Amino acid sequence: MKKNSIAVFFSKDVNVKGDNEYFDFCDPNIFYLTGVDQANIKLIMHKNSKNEIKSYLFVQQSTKFLETWHGKKLSIVQSRSISGIDNVYLLKDFEDKFDKLSKKIKHLYTFEHKMFDTCLNDYKNFIKKSKRKLKGVSIESSAKIISKLRQVKSSEEITQLQNAMEITSEAFLHVLKNLKKLKNEAQVSALLSFDYIRNHTKHSYEPICASGANSCIMHYVTNKDNFKKNDLILIDSGCEINNYKNDISRTFPVSGKFTKRQELIYETCLKVQKYAISIVKVGMNFRDLDEAARKFMSIELIKIGLIKKKDYDKDEKIVNKFYPHSIGHFLGLDTHDLASTLVLEEGHVITIEPGIYINKEKIGIRIEDNILVTNEGPVNLSKSIPKEIDEIERIMNN
Ligand code: GLY
Ligand code: MN
Ligand code: MN
Repeated sequence: MKKNSIAVFFSKDVNVKGDNEYFDFCDPNIFYLTGVDQANIKLIMHKNSKNEIKSYLFVQQSTKFLETWHGKKLSIVQSRSISGIDNVYLLKDFEDKFDKLSKKIKHLYTFEHKMFDTCLNDYKNFIKKSKRKLKGVSIESSAKIISKLRQVKSSEEITQLQNAMEITSEAFLHVLKNLKKLKNEAQVSALLSFDYIRNHTKHSYEPICASGANSCIMHYVTNKDNFKKNDLILIDSGCEINNYKNDISRTFPVSGKFTKRQELIYETCLKVQKYAISIVKVGMNFRDLDEAARKFMSIELIKIGLIKKKDYDKDEKIVNKFYPHSIGHFLGLDTHDLASTLVLEEGHVITIEPGIYINKEKIGIRIEDNILVTNEGPVNLSKSIPKEIDEIERIMNN
């Protein structure tokens, strides 16, 4: 933050759809900065002319109504203890405090990011009003600063991801061991939920349990079709602990055995995935990683005859027909996490997830691991989840 500046963050209100309330994760930035995950929180960070920083947290006052319907809200004392911020006030004091603090500022940082519609009318109104009211103050985005902080994971954050991975791994193994007995996508989805919930975690995102042709739909979440003989099932799922998210994909044969054709496509995808993981290193640009993986994928798809060399030479984009997404993304408090830079640094966590989708053969394969970038090389946080064909088949048929 620059001298004489203020950064303001709001967490969202409880989500209401129809007449139902959904207690979602309230705001990754507020949570990152304060450790408080509660609806209706406001945070002001103020840097004065002497580079001194003070934070002010504003929390919702508990009322009889809220206590009856939602349970107790965090008190000022509790919020102080969780956040380590001394200056905790009630929400009603926000405007006064902001008006006072903003008298001498030259910059106001707000969080506006193209990928993340904050969905906060309250916040949008605050920004609009501030633009009107604060003459001579430049309104800037805090996205770059907060992304830079969130992108590099501390050892405590990595521990959260690892703890979540123990449960994600247990859930995938549970599915693998039982898959031959299961009849449909819903049962797979239910088994994942069973393991996540009984272990006090929750889904990082809507799970994808896509069998047969459904596996060629990137974000298929209907999860209810019956298995057919020789179907593959593509499972894209993960749990989160303290809002830190896993994001894993595996593809298994529902019968316990890959067909020869499925085996060929699967091994191709796995080869690309292992190659992409092997070239992950500090200093590499994610775009170069993506390009190298795409190039490798193209060569492999030519080798197995899925695309023709002469067609590829004419237009390299032909590979997108079978591999329509990128190699991965950053991971953390958001599944598609903020990134201030595409150049990999120690402490970044990324996904590596090539896929091959052949619609007319009803074969969709994606293999996705979560990779920690370190100076010593890539660390696969999800290596305990089987992805070798012989291991998958051995576990399924034991
Ligand atoms: N689960 C969404 C993704 O893999 O990006
Ligand atoms: Mn995924
Ligand atoms: Mn992913």
